[in-house]
Amino acid sequence: FLHKLVLGIETSCDDTAAAVVDEAGNVLGEAIHSQTEVHLKTGGIIPPVAQQLHRENIQRIVQEALSASDVSPSELSAIATTVKPGLALSLGVGLSFSLQLVDQFKKPFIPIHHMEAHALTIRLTNKVEFPFLVLLISGGHCLLALVRGVSDFLLLGKSLDIAPGDMLDKVARRLCLIKHPECSTMSGGKAIEHLAKQGNRLHFDFQPPMQRAKNCDFSFSGLQHVIDKMIMQKEKEEGIEQGQILSSAADIAAAVQHTVACHVAKRTHRAILFCKQRGLLHQSNAVLVVSGGVASNLYIRKALEIVTNATQCTLLCPPPRLCTDNGVMIAWNGVERLRAGLGILHNTEGIRYEPK
Ligand code: KG4
Ligand code: ZN
Repeated sequence: FLHKLVLGIETSCDDTAAAVVDEAGNVLGEAIHSQTEVHLKTGGIIPPVAQQLHRENIQRIVQEALSASDVSPSELSAIATTVKPGLALSLGVGLSFSLQLVDQFKKPFIPIHHMEAHALTIRLTNKVEFPFLVLLISGGHCLLALVRGVSDFLLLGKSLDIAPGDMLDKVARRLCLIKHPECSTMSGGKAIEHLAKQGNRLHFDFQPPMQRAKNCDFSFSGLQHVIDKMIMQKEKEEGIEQGQILSSAADIAAAVQHTVACHVAKRTHRAILFCKQRGLLHQSNAVLVVSGGVASNLYIRKALEIVTNATQCTLLCPPPRLCTDNGVMIAWNGVERLRAGLGILHNTEGIRYEPK
């Protein structure tokens, strides 16, 4: 092989994913098993259940990624695996499995930070130089950071409570959208986006959070409680039981989506201005990368486009399949670290296996 080859393994939350990526950024093979359907039924992720599902699938998923790439483990340059942040029980499965491979095939191990992997994914698909700004918005994360290098991140803001995707999932659950014939198989956020198209946001007026906070942090739980109360009130007005779908569900979805979009766009606007004023970003050709599951929301993206247009920035999003959790981003982060000679472990003795 001309290029270095990295196997990436991701089990930080509810996706068991693996991929083989070469040094040039070619995805040679990938596989993913999503647990979303199971967790939708239980109304959220139950960590031991997620752990069990990772255990049942990891061998097959890694095997599929390797087979699709026609690469044998002995040909790999390194194995890269998400080690933080995430659910400890889920992370343990990927780490344990990876360390077994590392031992068996005597390969270097590259521990990967899940957020850094999300942030660097754009460099696999687009020619983006450092520094750039990244906004990560998903079910588990919410942050704004300046990316100055492969492992040089300046955190500008984060959620003080829950992530926007988590909030959208909770609102969707409260609205019982899983019972909605058009949304039953969608994630909460996707269901909200779908329903919002049929609703009128002006029927509800939710205030974006933290309007006077002079920083780039986020907050979603206060808004979520306001919405919860509003739903309860509407249920009373419409005379329906909790568990049935409100006739105003689409209007609520539209207003919620709009408020989240406003909040995210305003915090991002602050971050861009902050970086430009201090010379941390280019004045005329700065790049804002938006990623994470919530970034696939086209309404939120439109709001961000308004901000980037007003500040002479370029808005870039990885393709949807790379915005959500996947093995490719982990393998690619491994490639970036291999090229930069950063964080490559040749001895994994200090790293513990998953407790049995
Ligand atoms: O990145 P991701 O797959 O997993 C992590 O949370 O790390 O993101 C999943 C989240 C869920 O909360 C889901 O409701 C949200 O992304 N999401 C969306 C959309 N599609 C997925 N939120 C808003 N609009 C969407 N179209
Ligand atoms: Zn993620």
